[in-house]
Amino acid sequence: MDWFVRAFLKASLVWFSLAVGLALLMAVLPMLTVYRTAHLHLALLGFVTQMIYGVALHVVPRFFGQPLVHRRLAEVQFWAAQAGLTLLAAGFVARVNGWPLAGAAIGAGGFASAVGAACFVVNLWRTMDASPMRAVQARGGRPLATLPQADAH
Ligand code: HEM
Ligand code: HEM
Repeated sequence: MDWFVRAFLKASLVWFSLAVGLALLMAVLPMLTVYRTAHLHLALLGFVTQMIYGVALHVVPRFFGQPLVHRRLAEVQFWAAQAGLTLLAAGFVARVNGWPLAGAAIGAGGFASAVGAACFVVNLWRTMDASPMRAVQARGGRPLATLPQADAH
């Protein structure tokens, strides 16, 4: 398994823990619901999106019998996603408190998160297009002599 797959799954669990921790505080102290935007991005962009990143980077290449075409891009994606969400969530918290640089943190975090998302889209798209399964489809679904084998690892 690639290191970034495991890293995304673990990062997703860390973001989930932070989202639930903040959620509990909001549930107990309703005045803290001003941090709703931070909570929902920890949950949706942290837990949900990064769980999907990790699972998809592992299974999509195997579904298509085609290794990821850009492993380096997945590594860039991992760090962009972590830095991006850290800055974005910190920026949302800072904005509520009127702290300086809140807008800059949200902007930079949003940009880094978008870079991570773009890496993901390009990598999976190009991997699917590079797949030998396309040749199978071109033959009307009849299997090739060298049909890609599933990789169990
Ligand atoms: C222990 C689990 C959770 C608790 C206790 C919790 C609690 C809360 C609370 C108190 C709010 C603020 C509601 C308000 O503004 O009055 C909220 C908002 C929100 N939460 Fe959670 N949450 C949890 C998990 C999640 C998860 C797993 C997700 C998504 C995957 C999520 C998505 C959202 C969204 C999208 C909002 C904004 C809703 C809106 O603005 O209408 N939450 N949550
Ligand atoms: C590049 C990634 C993302 C960036 C930069 C981003 C940024 C933002 C910003 C700046 C807002 C407005 C917040 C405000 O001014 O209060 C917002 C709202 C929201 N975002 Fe995101 N977001 C991203 C990804 C996502 C994803 C993946 C989801 C869901 C799967 C999501 C769900 C929401 C929701 C539900 C709101 C409305 C919150 C509310 O009205 O309280 N976002 N987002």
